[in-house]
Amino acid sequence: MQITRSLFDDVMVPNYAPAKFIPVKGKGSRVWDQEGREYIDFAGGIAVTCLGHCHPALVGALKDQADKIWHLSNVLTNEPALALAKVLVDNTFADKVYFANSGAESNEAALKLARRYAKDKYGEQKDQIIAFKQGFHGRTFFTVTVGGQPAYSDGFGPKPAAIAHAEFNNIESLKALISDKTCAVMVEPMQGEGGVLPATPEFLKAVRELCDANNALLIFDEVQTGVGRTGKLYGYMQYDVVPDILTTAKALGGGFPIGAMLTTDEIAKHLVPGTHGSTYGGNPLACAVALAAVNTVNTPEVLDGVMAKAQLFRDGLAKINEKYNVFADVRGQGLLIGAELTADYAGKARDFMLAAADEGLMALVAGANIVRFAPSLVIPDADIEAGLARFEQAVAKMVKG
Ligand SMILES: Cc1ncc(COP(=O)(O)O)c(C=O)c1O
Repeated sequence: MQITRSLFDDVMVPNYAPAKFIPVKGKGSRVWDQEGREYIDFAGGIAVTCLGHCHPALVGALKDQADKIWHLSNVLTNEPALALAKVLVDNTFADKVYFANSGAESNEAALKLARRYAKDKYGEQKDQIIAFKQGFHGRTFFTVTVGGQPAYSDGFGPKPAAIAHAEFNNIESLKALISDKTCAVMVEPMQGEGGVLPATPEFLKAVRELCDANNALLIFDEVQTGVGRTGKLYGYMQYDVVPDILTTAKALGGGFPIGAMLTTDEIAKHLVPGTHGSTYGGNPLACAVALAAVNTVNTPEVLDGVMAKAQLFRDGLAKINEKYNVFADVRGQGLLIGAELTADYAGKARDFMLAAADEGLMALVAGANIVRFAPSLVIPDADIEAGLARFEQAVAKMVKG
Protein backbone atom coordinates (compact mmCIF):
# COMPACT_ATOMS: atom_id res chain seq x y z
CA MET A 1 0.00 0.00 0.00
CA GLN A 2 1.23 3.49 -0.89
CA ILE A 3 1.13 5.83 2.10
CA THR A 4 0.85 9.44 0.95
CA ARG A 5 -0.33 12.68 2.48
CA SER A 6 -3.54 12.49 0.43
CA LEU A 7 -4.47 9.32 2.35
CA PHE A 8 -4.90 11.58 5.39
CA ASP A 9 -7.84 13.31 3.72
CA ASP A 10 -9.35 9.93 2.78
CA VAL A 11 -9.16 8.14 6.12
CA MET A 12 -8.65 10.64 8.95
CA VAL A 13 -11.22 12.71 10.84
CA PRO A 14 -10.60 16.25 9.56
CA ASN A 15 -9.93 17.92 12.92
CA TYR A 16 -6.26 18.52 11.97
CA ALA A 17 -4.69 20.13 8.90
CA PRO A 18 -1.17 18.64 8.88
CA ALA A 19 1.67 19.90 6.70
CA LYS A 20 1.98 18.55 3.18
CA PHE A 21 5.03 16.39 3.95
CA ILE A 22 5.26 13.23 6.06
CA PRO A 23 8.35 12.90 8.26
CA VAL A 24 9.67 9.34 8.43
CA LYS A 25 12.94 9.64 10.35
CA GLY A 26 14.47 11.85 13.02
CA LYS A 27 17.86 12.10 14.65
CA GLY A 28 18.66 14.82 17.17
CA SER A 29 17.20 18.06 15.80
CA ARG A 30 17.06 16.89 12.17
CA VAL A 31 14.05 15.23 10.52
CA TRP A 32 13.67 13.66 7.05
CA ASP A 33 10.46 13.28 5.04
CA GLN A 34 9.34 10.57 2.60
CA GLU A 35 11.28 12.26 -0.23
CA GLY A 36 14.47 12.37 1.82
CA ARG A 37 14.21 16.14 2.30
CA GLU A 38 15.84 17.29 5.54
CA TYR A 39 14.33 19.70 8.08
CA ILE A 40 15.73 21.36 11.18
CA ASP A 41 13.30 20.93 14.04
CA PHE A 42 12.54 24.09 16.06
CA ALA A 43 9.05 22.75 16.89
CA GLY A 44 9.96 19.78 19.07
CA GLY A 45 6.57 18.13 18.52
CA ILE A 46 5.06 21.12 20.41
CA ALA A 47 7.51 21.21 23.33
CA VAL A 48 7.63 17.41 23.66
CA THR A 49 10.87 16.04 22.19
CA CYS A 50 13.03 17.65 24.88
CA LEU A 51 16.04 15.52 23.94
CA GLY A 52 15.49 15.61 20.19
CA HIS A 53 14.60 12.57 18.13
CA CYS A 54 15.82 9.07 19.00
CA HIS A 55 18.08 10.17 21.87
CA PRO A 56 20.18 7.11 22.81
CA ALA A 57 19.17 7.27 26.51
CA LEU A 58 15.47 7.15 25.58
CA VAL A 59 15.84 4.54 22.84
CA GLY A 60 17.90 2.41 25.25
CA ALA A 61 15.30 2.70 28.04
CA LEU A 62 12.44 1.84 25.66
CA LYS A 63 14.20 -1.18 24.13
CA ASP A 64 15.30 -2.43 27.51
CA GLN A 65 11.78 -2.20 28.96
CA ALA A 66 10.24 -3.66 25.78
CA ASP A 67 12.02 -6.92 26.52
CA LYS A 68 10.80 -6.98 30.14
CA ILE A 69 7.11 -6.11 30.54
CA TRP A 70 4.80 -3.74 28.64
CA HIS A 71 1.59 -3.40 30.57
CA LEU A 72 0.02 -4.44 33.83
CA SER A 73 -2.79 -1.91 34.62
CA ASN A 74 -3.17 -0.37 38.04
CA VAL A 75 -4.36 -3.60 39.58
CA LEU A 76 -0.59 -4.04 39.99
CA THR A 77 2.20 -1.53 40.39
CA ASN A 78 5.49 -1.68 38.48
CA GLU A 79 9.16 -0.81 38.94
CA PRO A 80 9.52 1.99 36.33
CA ALA A 81 6.45 3.84 37.69
CA LEU A 82 7.77 3.72 41.25
CA ALA A 83 11.28 4.75 40.20
CA LEU A 84 9.90 7.71 38.19
CA ALA A 85 7.58 8.79 41.01
CA LYS A 86 10.52 8.71 43.44
CA VAL A 87 12.64 10.91 41.17
CA LEU A 88 9.77 13.41 40.74
CA VAL A 89 9.12 13.53 44.49
CA ASP A 90 12.83 13.88 45.32
CA ASN A 91 13.27 16.77 42.89
CA THR A 92 10.11 18.85 43.45
CA PHE A 93 7.84 20.18 46.24
CA ALA A 94 5.62 17.12 45.86
CA ASP A 95 5.15 14.09 48.13
CA LYS A 96 2.87 12.09 45.86
CA VAL A 97 2.43 11.40 42.13
CA TYR A 98 -0.53 10.27 39.99
CA PHE A 99 0.25 9.09 36.46
CA ALA A 100 -1.88 9.79 33.38
CA ASN A 101 -1.31 9.63 29.61
CA SER A 102 -1.52 13.25 28.53
CA GLY A 103 -1.61 16.84 29.70
CA ALA A 104 -5.39 17.02 29.58
CA GLU A 105 -5.76 13.90 31.69
CA SER A 106 -3.25 15.18 34.24
CA ASN A 107 -5.25 18.41 34.50
CA GLU A 108 -8.52 16.48 34.70
CA ALA A 109 -7.08 14.63 37.71
CA ALA A 110 -5.90 17.90 39.29
CA LEU A 111 -9.30 19.56 38.91
CA LYS A 112 -11.19 16.54 40.22
CA LEU A 113 -8.81 16.31 43.18
CA ALA A 114 -9.25 20.01 43.99
CA ARG A 115 -13.05 19.66 43.93
CA ARG A 116 -12.94 16.50 46.08
CA TYR A 117 -10.50 18.01 48.58
CA ALA A 118 -12.67 21.13 49.00
CA LYS A 119 -15.86 19.07 49.37
CA ASP A 120 -14.33 16.79 51.99
CA LYS A 121 -12.78 19.67 53.95
CA TYR A 122 -15.22 22.57 53.56
CA GLY A 123 -18.44 21.24 52.01
CA GLU A 124 -20.25 21.02 48.64
CA GLN A 125 -20.58 24.80 48.20
CA LYS A 126 -16.82 25.25 47.73
CA ASP A 127 -16.67 24.22 44.08
CA GLN A 128 -15.60 27.26 42.05
CA ILE A 129 -12.56 26.92 39.80
CA ILE A 130 -10.87 30.06 38.54
CA ALA A 131 -8.54 30.01 35.54
CA PHE A 132 -7.31 32.68 33.12
CA LYS A 133 -8.36 34.08 29.78
CA GLN A 134 -6.27 32.74 26.88
CA GLY A 135 -5.08 29.87 29.12
CA PHE A 136 -4.97 26.35 27.70
CA HIS A 137 -5.37 23.17 29.72
CA GLY A 138 -6.33 20.46 27.23
CA ARG A 139 -9.32 19.22 25.25
CA THR A 140 -11.38 17.04 27.58
CA PHE A 141 -14.65 18.82 28.23
CA PHE A 142 -13.70 19.81 31.80
CA THR A 143 -10.18 21.01 30.93
CA VAL A 144 -11.22 22.83 27.76
CA THR A 145 -13.93 24.64 29.72
CA VAL A 146 -11.37 25.64 32.34
CA GLY A 147 -9.18 26.87 29.47
CA GLY A 148 -9.68 30.52 28.64
CA GLN A 149 -10.74 30.36 24.99
CA PRO A 150 -14.53 29.80 24.77
CA ALA A 151 -14.21 29.14 21.02
CA TYR A 152 -12.65 25.77 21.94
CA SER A 153 -15.40 24.76 24.38
CA ASP A 154 -18.49 26.20 22.64
CA GLY A 155 -20.76 23.98 20.59
CA PHE A 156 -20.60 20.78 22.61
CA GLY A 157 -23.66 21.18 24.79
CA PRO A 158 -23.89 22.11 28.48
CA LYS A 159 -20.49 22.87 29.99
CA PRO A 160 -19.20 21.81 33.40
CA ALA A 161 -20.32 24.50 35.86
CA ALA A 162 -18.69 26.75 38.48
CA ILE A 163 -15.76 27.84 36.31
CA ALA A 164 -14.72 31.51 36.01
CA HIS A 165 -11.95 33.31 34.13
CA ALA A 166 -9.78 36.20 35.28
CA GLU A 167 -7.27 38.27 33.28
CA PHE A 168 -3.75 36.80 33.21
CA ASN A 169 -1.14 39.00 34.95
CA ASN A 170 -3.93 41.16 36.40
CA ILE A 171 -4.32 40.49 40.11
CA GLU A 172 -7.24 42.89 40.55
CA SER A 173 -9.22 40.79 38.10
CA LEU A 174 -8.61 37.64 40.20
CA LYS A 175 -9.38 39.54 43.41
CA ALA A 176 -12.78 40.46 42.00
CA LEU A 177 -13.68 36.78 41.39
CA ILE A 178 -12.10 34.81 44.23
CA SER A 179 -14.06 34.04 47.41
CA ASP A 180 -14.55 31.34 50.05
CA LYS A 181 -16.49 29.44 47.33
CA THR A 182 -13.30 29.06 45.26
CA CYS A 183 -11.74 25.60 45.54
CA ALA A 184 -8.82 26.13 43.14
CA VAL A 185 -7.03 28.53 40.86
CA MET A 186 -5.40 26.92 37.80
CA VAL A 187 -2.67 28.84 35.99
CA GLU A 188 0.20 28.29 33.57
CA PRO A 189 3.36 30.00 34.93
CA MET A 190 3.89 30.93 31.29
CA GLN A 191 0.91 30.81 28.93
CA GLY A 192 2.02 28.66 25.99
CA GLU A 193 -0.79 28.26 23.47
CA GLY A 194 -2.16 31.64 24.60
CA GLY A 195 0.85 33.55 23.27
CA VAL A 196 4.11 32.57 25.04
CA LEU A 197 3.43 34.98 27.89
CA PRO A 198 5.35 34.53 31.16
CA ALA A 199 3.56 35.41 34.40
CA THR A 200 5.22 38.25 36.29
CA PRO A 201 6.75 37.21 39.64
CA GLU A 202 4.54 39.75 41.48
CA PHE A 203 1.43 38.30 39.86
CA LEU A 204 2.20 34.67 40.79
CA LYS A 205 3.09 35.70 44.35
CA ALA A 206 -0.16 37.60 44.73
CA VAL A 207 -2.11 34.64 43.26
CA ARG A 208 -0.54 32.41 45.92
CA GLU A 209 -1.52 34.87 48.67
CA LEU A 210 -5.10 35.16 47.42
CA CYS A 211 -5.39 31.35 47.28
CA ASP A 212 -4.13 31.07 50.86
CA ALA A 213 -6.48 33.78 52.10
CA ASN A 214 -9.46 31.97 50.53
CA ASN A 215 -8.44 28.35 51.30
CA ALA A 216 -8.19 27.65 47.58
CA LEU A 217 -5.62 25.29 46.08
CA LEU A 218 -3.12 26.67 43.61
CA ILE A 219 -2.66 24.42 40.56
CA PHE A 220 0.24 25.10 38.19
CA ASP A 221 -0.26 23.64 34.73
CA GLU A 222 3.34 22.94 33.72
CA VAL A 223 2.44 20.68 30.81
CA GLN A 224 4.32 22.98 28.42
CA THR A 225 6.81 24.65 30.81
CA GLY A 226 7.91 21.49 32.63
CA VAL A 227 10.94 19.23 32.41
CA GLY A 228 13.64 21.78 31.71
CA ARG A 229 11.89 23.93 29.11
CA THR A 230 12.48 27.18 31.04
CA GLY A 231 15.99 26.28 32.22
CA LYS A 232 14.78 24.79 35.54
CA LEU A 233 13.26 21.33 36.00
CA TYR A 234 9.87 23.05 36.52
CA GLY A 235 8.87 26.62 35.76
CA TYR A 236 7.75 27.31 39.36
CA MET A 237 11.41 27.04 40.36
CA GLN A 238 12.01 30.32 38.50
CA TYR A 239 9.61 32.01 40.92
CA ASP A 240 9.53 32.06 44.69
CA VAL A 241 6.08 30.45 44.55
CA VAL A 242 5.18 26.81 45.23
CA PRO A 243 1.87 25.35 44.00
CA ASP A 244 -0.29 22.78 45.82
CA ILE A 245 -0.74 20.70 42.68
CA LEU A 246 1.42 20.64 39.54
CA THR A 247 0.69 18.91 36.25
CA THR A 248 3.33 17.78 33.79
CA ALA A 249 3.20 15.92 30.45
CA LYS A 250 4.65 16.71 26.99
CA ALA A 251 8.44 16.69 27.61
CA LEU A 252 8.05 14.27 30.53
CA GLY A 253 8.19 11.33 28.12
CA GLY A 254 10.40 13.04 25.54
CA GLY A 255 7.95 11.82 22.87
CA PHE A 256 6.42 8.81 24.61
CA PRO A 257 2.89 9.66 25.84
CA ILE A 258 2.75 10.20 29.60
CA GLY A 259 1.46 12.79 32.05
CA ALA A 260 1.55 13.21 35.80
CA MET A 261 -0.05 15.15 38.61
CA LEU A 262 2.15 16.03 41.57
CA THR A 263 0.85 17.10 44.96
CA THR A 264 1.36 16.99 48.72
CA ASP A 265 0.49 14.19 51.18
CA GLU A 266 -2.21 16.30 52.78
CA ILE A 267 -4.06 16.84 49.48
CA ALA A 268 -3.31 13.47 47.87
CA LYS A 269 -5.00 11.52 50.65
CA HIS A 270 -8.40 12.66 49.33
CA LEU A 271 -8.07 10.50 46.21
CA VAL A 272 -8.86 7.23 47.94
CA PRO A 273 -9.29 3.94 46.02
CA GLY A 274 -12.16 4.17 43.55
CA THR A 275 -12.22 7.98 43.23
CA HIS A 276 -10.15 8.26 40.06
CA GLY A 277 -8.05 6.14 37.71
CA SER A 278 -6.81 5.18 34.26
CA THR A 279 -6.01 1.86 32.58
CA TYR A 280 -2.74 3.04 31.05
CA GLY A 281 -1.60 5.59 33.67
CA GLY A 282 1.84 4.56 34.92
CA ASN A 283 2.42 2.17 32.02
CA PRO A 284 5.89 0.58 32.38
CA LEU A 285 7.09 1.51 28.86
CA ALA A 286 6.05 5.16 29.32
CA CYS A 287 7.54 5.38 32.81
CA ALA A 288 10.84 3.77 31.78
CA VAL A 289 11.28 6.31 28.98
CA ALA A 290 10.18 9.22 31.20
CA LEU A 291 12.62 8.17 33.91
CA ALA A 292 15.46 8.33 31.39
CA ALA A 293 14.17 11.70 30.10
CA VAL A 294 13.93 13.32 33.54
CA ASN A 295 17.30 11.97 34.66
CA THR A 296 18.96 13.21 31.46
CA VAL A 297 17.35 16.66 31.54
CA ASN A 298 17.76 17.27 35.26
CA THR A 299 21.50 17.93 35.15
CA PRO A 300 23.31 21.29 35.36
CA GLU A 301 24.79 20.55 31.94
CA VAL A 302 21.42 20.37 30.18
CA LEU A 303 19.62 23.03 32.25
CA ASP A 304 22.44 25.59 31.96
CA GLY A 305 22.65 24.70 28.28
CA VAL A 306 19.01 25.74 27.86
CA MET A 307 19.84 29.28 28.98
CA ALA A 308 22.88 29.51 26.69
CA LYS A 309 20.94 28.15 23.71
CA ALA A 310 18.02 30.48 24.44
CA GLN A 311 20.45 33.41 24.22
CA LEU A 312 21.68 32.19 20.83
CA PHE A 313 18.06 32.13 19.64
CA ARG A 314 17.36 35.61 21.03
CA ASP A 315 20.50 37.06 19.43
CA GLY A 316 19.72 35.43 16.09
CA LEU A 317 16.11 36.61 16.07
CA ALA A 318 17.24 40.13 17.03
CA LYS A 319 19.61 40.16 14.04
CA ILE A 320 16.84 39.01 11.70
CA ASN A 321 14.60 41.72 13.11
CA GLU A 322 17.24 44.42 12.62
CA LYS A 323 17.19 43.57 8.92
CA TYR A 324 13.49 42.96 8.32
CA ASN A 325 11.59 44.59 11.20
CA VAL A 326 8.89 41.92 11.39
CA PHE A 327 8.71 41.28 15.17
CA ALA A 328 7.05 43.62 17.65
CA ASP A 329 8.31 41.50 20.56
CA VAL A 330 10.41 38.41 21.20
CA ARG A 331 9.59 36.81 24.55
CA GLY A 332 9.39 33.63 26.60
CA GLN A 333 11.60 31.76 29.02
CA GLY A 334 14.39 29.36 28.20
CA LEU A 335 13.65 27.42 25.04
CA LEU A 336 9.99 28.36 24.76
CA ILE A 337 10.25 31.45 22.59
CA GLY A 338 7.53 33.53 20.97
CA ALA A 339 8.15 36.09 18.23
CA GLU A 340 5.14 38.38 17.97
CA LEU A 341 4.64 39.85 14.50
CA THR A 342 4.25 43.57 13.92
CA ALA A 343 0.89 45.06 12.91
CA ASP A 344 1.95 44.84 9.24
CA TYR A 345 1.94 41.06 9.51
CA ALA A 346 -1.01 40.69 11.89
CA GLY A 347 -2.69 37.30 11.55
CA LYS A 348 0.14 35.88 9.42
CA ALA A 349 1.98 33.63 11.90
CA ARG A 350 0.81 30.50 10.07
CA ASP A 351 2.12 31.90 6.77
CA PHE A 352 5.53 32.45 8.40
CA MET A 353 5.44 28.88 9.70
CA LEU A 354 4.58 27.49 6.24
CA ALA A 355 7.26 29.66 4.60
CA ALA A 356 9.76 28.27 7.14
CA ALA A 357 8.76 24.69 6.26
CA ASP A 358 9.41 25.50 2.59
CA GLU A 359 12.96 26.47 3.62
CA GLY A 360 13.41 23.23 5.61
CA LEU A 361 12.62 24.55 9.08
CA MET A 362 9.91 23.23 11.40
CA ALA A 363 8.40 25.98 13.58
CA LEU A 364 5.11 26.51 15.44
CA VAL A 365 2.56 29.22 16.00
CA ALA A 366 0.83 30.35 19.21
CA GLY A 367 -2.31 32.05 17.95
CA ALA A 368 -2.52 34.11 14.77
CA ASN A 369 0.27 36.62 15.55
CA ILE A 370 3.03 34.65 17.20
CA VAL A 371 5.64 32.35 15.70
CA ARG A 372 6.70 29.91 18.42
CA PHE A 373 9.88 27.89 18.83
CA ALA A 374 10.13 24.94 21.25
CA PRO A 375 13.18 22.97 20.09
CA SER A 376 15.07 20.16 21.76
CA LEU A 377 16.79 21.30 24.96
CA VAL A 378 20.02 19.78 23.62
CA ILE A 379 19.83 21.11 20.08
CA PRO A 380 23.41 21.61 18.84
CA ASP A 381 24.43 25.27 18.51
CA ALA A 382 25.25 24.61 14.84
CA ASP A 383 21.64 23.50 14.25
CA ILE A 384 20.35 26.68 15.91
CA GLU A 385 22.50 28.76 13.57
CA ALA A 386 21.56 26.74 10.48
CA GLY A 387 17.87 26.80 11.45
CA LEU A 388 17.89 30.55 12.00
CA ALA A 389 19.51 31.01 8.58
CA ARG A 390 16.64 29.04 7.05
CA PHE A 391 14.14 31.06 9.06
CA GLU A 392 15.74 34.26 7.77
CA GLN A 393 15.20 33.05 4.19
CA ALA A 394 11.53 32.49 5.03
CA VAL A 395 11.24 35.95 6.61
CA ALA A 396 12.90 37.52 3.55
CA LYS A 397 10.34 35.83 1.28
CA MET A 398 7.45 36.95 3.48
CA VAL A 399 8.72 40.53 3.43
CA LYS A 400 9.13 40.51 -0.36
CA GLY A 401 5.54 39.18 -0.55
C1 LIG B 1 -0.32 24.22 29.24
C2 LIG B 1 -0.97 23.04 28.60
N1 LIG B 1 -1.79 22.27 29.31
C3 LIG B 1 -2.38 21.18 28.80
C4 LIG B 1 -2.18 20.81 27.49
C5 LIG B 1 -2.84 19.59 26.93
O1 LIG B 1 -1.95 18.55 26.83
P1 LIG B 1 -2.32 17.25 25.95
O2 LIG B 1 -2.45 17.72 24.54
O3 LIG B 1 -1.17 16.31 26.18
O4 LIG B 1 -3.61 16.72 26.49
C6 LIG B 1 -1.32 21.58 26.69
C7 LIG B 1 -1.08 21.24 25.27
O5 LIG B 1 -0.71 22.03 24.45
C8 LIG B 1 -0.70 22.72 27.26
O6 LIG B 1 0.15 23.50 26.54
